[in-house]
Amino acid sequence: MTAEEIARYVVARAVWAPSVHNTQPWRFTTDGGPQISLHADVGRRLAVADPDGREMMISCGAALFTARLALRALGYVPQTRVLPDPGQPTLVARVSWRERAAADEFERRLSGHVLTRRTHRGAFDPEPLPPDTLAALRAAAAREGAALRIVADDGRRAALAAAVQTAEHELRRDGERLRELARWTPAPGSACRDGVPATSYPARAERTQPYFPGRDFARGHGWGMPALGAATSHRAAGVAGLLTTAADRPADWVNAGQALQRILLTASTCGAAVALHSQPLELPWLREFIRTQLGDGACPHLVLRIGLVTQVAVSVRRDPDDVLFPMGGDRAGPG
Ligand SMILES: Cc1cc2nc3c(=O)[nH]c(=O)nc-3n(C[C@H](O)[C@H](O)[C@H](O)COP(=O)(O)O)c2cc1C
Repeated sequence: MTAEEIARYVVARAVWAPSVHNTQPWRFTTDGGPQISLHADVGRRLAVADPDGREMMISCGAALFTARLALRALGYVPQTRVLPDPGQPTLVARVSWRERAAADEFERRLSGHVLTRRTHRGAFDPEPLPPDTLAALRAAAAREGAALRIVADDGRRAALAAAVQTAEHELRRDGERLRELARWTPAPGSACRDGVPATSYPARAERTQPYFPGRDFARGHGWGMPALGAATSHRAAGVAGLLTTAADRPADWVNAGQALQRILLTASTCGAAVALHSQPLELPWLREFIRTQLGDGACPHLVLRIGLVTQVAVSVRRDPDDVLFPMGGDRAGPG
């Protein structure tokens, strides 16, 4: 493969990373050599929900991990520099590939889940996770410089659920946030290749004990997928956890994103799905509550719920050609 073909392959995989509201806030540039640059696309930042760009950088971090994994799958050793130029804060990373080494079995398995992994929204089956799953997910987070803290204690789990409920209640009353959400929640049948499609969330919220409400993507329109089977009372909230980093700088946000994607793909290899809740982390006072009361003082980025479930969600992505540009090209910005 030529360097250009490799860059295209890497980007075609990286775009399947998760991103907040599926904003896909990234852009890639290539100079035709064995290197690509990943830029945050600030025009896609959630100006109201994410004024500091933390969720944007987490999303870019998830794309960065996926790009690295794609290179490993091709048998290259990625060399990654995160935020390599202090003068260009939106240049998230440069990734180059020169050395070769065959991918190992686990890298190949992770890579096999990049296109099929989906964010889960709703309850889980009551069966416990396969043994060692949580240990594997914690190790995945640690490998990327973050931590996955399992919130196992009933009282703390209920407090975390209450934080998500409080946040969701606040967000639904905030007109500015609702207008921003509307920009990223296309109607069913839309040809949009970004945003959260109605094929990716349930039409009816599934109550669990404790209850972690999802975002109101349908905004009262009744959009969403019908329930798979008859509603039963045996549905579970799953194992709750917090993704945290020790510090709260942009480099930590990128690491959190890399850790997130490693966790999500590792979970997929274990047959598990993950639901994400960032609502309480978008409200500074609730983020501070979670940090001090439930996160042992570490900086929280996402609430995760992990469990077993049959997934039917379908998501969308922009074409690689819409996000990969020659360096110095029209829409590419500084390389
Ligand atoms: C930083 C971040 C925050 C997210 N917050 C939420 C959330 O609060 N609720 C939710 O349902 N999904 C959340 N997601 C998941 C995205 O909506 C999801 O990745 C995107 O819609 C693409 O769908 P996919 O992951 O199924 O490919 C978040 C993802 C990221 C990276």
